[in-house]
Amino acid sequence: MSWRTAAGRQPQRSRVGRTLSIAAMRRSGVAAMRALLPSPRARSGAMDDWIDYYDSTHTIYVSKLHRDLHFRVIADDIIGYISSPDAVVLDYSCGEALSAARVAERCGRLILAEPAPGVRGRLIARFAGILNIKVRSLDDLRHLDDASVDLAVMISVAQYMSPAELDAALATFRRVLKPSGRLVLGDILQPDVGAGTDVMALLRMGAKHGFLKDALVGLVRTSLSDYWQLRTKIGLQRYSEEEVLAKLRKTGFAASRAPVNVGHNPARMTFVARHAF
Ligand SMILES: C[S@@+](CC[C@H](N)C(=O)[O-])C[C@H]1O[C@@H](n2cnc3c(N)ncnc32)[C@H](O)[C@@H]1O
Repeated sequence: MSWRTAAGRQPQRSRVGRTLSIAAMRRSGVAAMRALLPSPRARSGAMDDWIDYYDSTHTIYVSKLHRDLHFRVIADDIIGYISSPDAVVLDYSCGEALSAARVAERCGRLILAEPAPGVRGRLIARFAGILNIKVRSLDDLRHLDDASVDLAVMISVAQYMSPAELDAALATFRRVLKPSGRLVLGDILQPDVGAGTDVMALLRMGAKHGFLKDALVGLVRTSLSDYWQLRTKIGLQRYSEEEVLAKLRKTGFAASRAPVNVGHNPARMTFVARHAF
């Protein structure tokens, strides 16, 4: 499978019911058929457009190297938060999670939860041979036992959620985390940090890892793509440090901001939370 299957974004399904495209089914075979089952909770609303975007053949990664590097860095950052080889780890809205096998090697069980059915079908196919990786929809998490997870991570997702969706996700984390467990909320956008810093972070990463030219071309392509149309139309949710800490407190967490963000963009924020007793 090529690293990028098409040059532009192609919506693959209607919002309600979340069906898979023929191409996604072909790619992922029988495993993807499981993801075809309609979600018990039909979703709608502007923020769902971002799930559709991530389920499409988007061009958010400027090259294969950029994409592979991104997922490797994220995996290594998640590994840094795993406290035991037996740990149960939940990666909420994990995306393609290309380096999840690295994480699975360092924990007892890795639950990859992803709302986009096409992405989920590929995850199922990609990790079918790794027995301690389980792929789930976000709705499936309702069946996850209380106090069963040691580490929950949600990286680069809050900006695509409505505030109510973020509250619901935090409540899920509070329920499924063990009393000793930790929640890592990463890559949170701040209100006063604009798109320019995202551009600079990508260019710095490109210069450091030898894909500066692809980064420049990718930026032009992105500026003409659905990503910018969506970013302009729907926008991204941004939170101040205090707003995130207040939300976490309200959900029953004691939290603090980590000294460094996960991933490659130091202008964004990471928070680490535990049950408040
Ligand atoms: C930028 S990707 C991040 C993927 C992965 N966590 C990472 O760090 O590479 C954004 C992810 O958020 C998911 N997403 C988009 N809108 C969402 C929403 N409203 N609720 C939950 N997840 C959403 C997408 O399906 C996608 O997997």
